[in-house]
Amino acid sequence: MRTVNIGICGFGTVGSGTFAVLNRNRELIRARSGCDIRVAQLAARRQILSSNLDSVSVIRDIFQVVENPGIDVVVELIGGTTTARELVMKAISRGKHVVTANKALIAVHGNEIFAAARDHQVIVAYEAAVAGGIPIIKSLREGLGANRIEWLAGIINGTGNFILTAMQEEGRKFDEVLRQAQALGYAEADPAFDVEGIDAAHKLVILASLAFGIPLQFDRVFTEGISAIELQDMEFARELGYRIKHLGIARETESGVELRVHPTLIPDTSLIAEVDGVMNAVMVKGDAAGPTLYYGAGAGAEATASAVVADIIDVSRSLNCSPEARVPFLAFSDASFNGKPVLAIEDVETAYYLRMQVLDRPGVLSQIASIMSDRGISIEAIIQKQPRPGENHVALIMMTNRAREAELMAAVKQIEKLDSQAGKIIQLRVETLDR
Ligand code: HSE
Repeated sequence: MRTVNIGICGFGTVGSGTFAVLNRNRELIRARSGCDIRVAQLAARRQILSSNLDSVSVIRDIFQVVENPGIDVVVELIGGTTTARELVMKAISRGKHVVTANKALIAVHGNEIFAAARDHQVIVAYEAAVAGGIPIIKSLREGLGANRIEWLAGIINGTGNFILTAMQEEGRKFDEVLRQAQALGYAEADPAFDVEGIDAAHKLVILASLAFGIPLQFDRVFTEGISAIELQDMEFARELGYRIKHLGIARETESGVELRVHPTLIPDTSLIAEVDGVMNAVMVKGDAAGPTLYYGAGAGAEATASAVVADIIDVSRSLNCSPEARVPFLAFSDASFNGKPVLAIEDVETAYYLRMQVLDRPGVLSQIASIMSDRGISIEAIIQKQPRPGENHVALIMMTNRAREAELMAAVKQIEKLDSQAGKIIQLRVETLDR
C-alpha cells in the first residue's frame, strides 16, 4: 500500500478538527483511499496538546513543510491571503499537491494558483473553502457535470445565518449573537468578513467559476451585508409570506453573469427558508437535473474537516493516475478567456421589498404609484400600518414585480424627494427561487 505523507500547516479550529478526524477514522480512510495517509509533519504557532502525536514531527515554521522533500501533500489551514499565498505557491513550485480550506485565497488568487498548479501538474483541492461540510464543489464538478448550470443561490455564511436566525426567532441582539458565533468557532478572524458579506462573496465566486467556467472575479461581486437588517423588516416580511436570508446568487443571463450577495426575501414555503442557525444550503438549477438542494453545517471544526479530509483522500487516490489525467480541467484559468462578463448590479433584474415612512394623507399613495408606473415597475402588494399615537408618518411596505435595478433605484430616489416621505427607503431584494 502506498504511503502518502501529508504536512498540515495551521492548527486552529479546522487544523485540529482535521487531525482528529484523520486519527479517529484512520482505518476507514485507509480502506477508502487505498493509501496509508500519514500526518508526517504539523506546523503550528502554538504548542499542541494531543495524545496522537507519536510519529508526527511538530514544528513552528510552516515553510519547513513545503521544503520537506518527504511531504506529498501540503494542507494549508492558516487562512489569510498573504502568507498563505506564498506557502501555496511555494508548495506548488516544489511539486507538492495542496489541500486548502481558504476561500479568500482561492477567490482572490485562485487564477494564479490554478495556472501554477497546471504548469507543475499538481492538484489544488478546495472543497472545504465553500459551505463547510457540504460537498458542493464535488457536486458541481462531478455530480452535475452533465448540466448547463442556469443559476445557484445559497446561504453560504454560517455566522450570518446564525445571527439572523437568533434575531428573528429569539429576538436577540446582533452583537451578543455575534460574540456567541465567535466563541463557537464559526466566525472569521475579522468578523466583518461574515457580517458584511465578504466571506459569502469569496465563496460565491468560487461556485460561479465552477458553475459557469468563468475566471474567479472577486472584485466584480456586488456585496451587501446583514448589519443593516432591522427586526421590523423581518416581521413585515413574515406578514407577506417571506423570510429574510442572506444569499449569494449567481445566474447566467443572455447578456452576462450576475454575481451578488445581499439580504433577500424568499418565500417561506421555499425549503431554503427553513435553513437556520449555522447551517448552510446551496440550491443549484441545472438544465437536466432541475433544481437540487445541498444542506449541512457550513462552519465548525469537524464539519469543515470532513471536507478537508475528503480532499486528502481524493488527492491520495489520484496519485496513481497519470499527472495529465489528474490535473483538473480549468478552462477559467486561461487569461485569454472570452466568455460572458459579470453584470453590473444596475443591470440585474429582481423583485423588491420597499419600506417607506410616509405622511398619512390622501394622494400620497397615488403619487408613489405613478412614479412606479412611469418607470414600468409593477406593484405586487402593499401593506400600510396605522400611525403610532402622536406620529404623522406611517410605515408603507411595498412589494414590486421584477424590474431592472437601475429603474428601481431611480424610482426610489424620486420617491425619497417627495415631501410626504421621511428619511431613506429601506430596500431589500426578493427572489422566488423557482425559475
Ligand atoms: N466564517 C465562516 C462562516 C466559516 O461563518 O460560514 C466557514 O467558512
